[in-house]
Amino acid sequence: MAMFEVKELTKYFGGLAALSDLDLQVEAGEIRGIIGPNGAGKTTLFNVISGVYRPTSGEIIYQGKEISGLIASKIAGMGVVRTFQRTALFHKFTVMGNVLVARHLQAKVGLFRTIFGTNRRIDIEHEEKALEIIDFMGLSDLKNELADNLPHGHQRSLGMAMALAAEPKMIMLDEPVTGMNPTETKHMTDLIRKVRDEWEMTILLVEHDMKVVMGLCDKITVLNFGKKLADGLPEEIKENSDVIEAYLGGAEVVELLGE
Ligand SMILES: Nc1ncnc2c1ncn2[C@@H]1O[C@H](COP(=O)(O)OP(=O)(O)O)[C@@H](O)[C@H]1O
Ligand SMILES: [Mg+2]
Repeated sequence: MAMFEVKELTKYFGGLAALSDLDLQVEAGEIRGIIGPNGAGKTTLFNVISGVYRPTSGEIIYQGKEISGLIASKIAGMGVVRTFQRTALFHKFTVMGNVLVARHLQAKVGLFRTIFGTNRRIDIEHEEKALEIIDFMGLSDLKNELADNLPHGHQRSLGMAMALAAEPKMIMLDEPVTGMNPTETKHMTDLIRKVRDEWEMTILLVEHDMKVVMGLCDKITVLNFGKKLADGLPEEIKENSDVIEAYLGGAEVVELLGE
């Protein structure tokens, strides 16, 4: 049985089917790319999985349990999280502060205790785990820096550190390298691979940078108008004529086929 599965998932916004009868099966430890033109439903898929939106119909099964319709914090607590975008950082908090708050927001421990902590031993445990994550993401030297003062690339790393703070088993990354320069892109790509390899994470990756997608993903699912257009290995997707056609007319085809 797949570690994560979506069955006939449908999400309507008014009369628009942002997701339509989508089936997905993801194995533990897999990096699954989710690609498709703008408006294909990629972000909606993440929002529905993470509990931001309720699906209109269909099932979302994680480790054999139906999670669709659960509230977001419950889903995060079970180990399924999405990354925080730059705008979701606590800009006036330090790197350490952000990771600690994220850890508490996504776990069973209340935020109240984060701020007015009363149990020093538990606080130390949380701090140690936060430090480990910060170190893993290459942010140790910046742990006392305000999030606001970090360069863009480091803010993205912090966003990922915050997602990892709850010690998830599956993370959803929505355009993790968008807006990054080549050095930052390489760094983030290496980190994503490292998270999977060393933490045995299952990763769903939405990304427009086809070099990153083709280089990182074990398998790729292509969405178009909320429907699955194709599923397969990166080599298969590259050669799939339906996929090429769906991208034709857009700039994506150039990237998809590689320079
Ligand atoms: N909250 C919303 N309300 C209404 N329509 C939405 C909402 N979120 C997304 N949509 C629509 O659903 C479709 C899929 O959007 P989205 O999931 O953001 O696509 P992608 O991430 O693949 O670019 C688009 O037509 C978009 O306009
Ligand atoms: Mg999107």
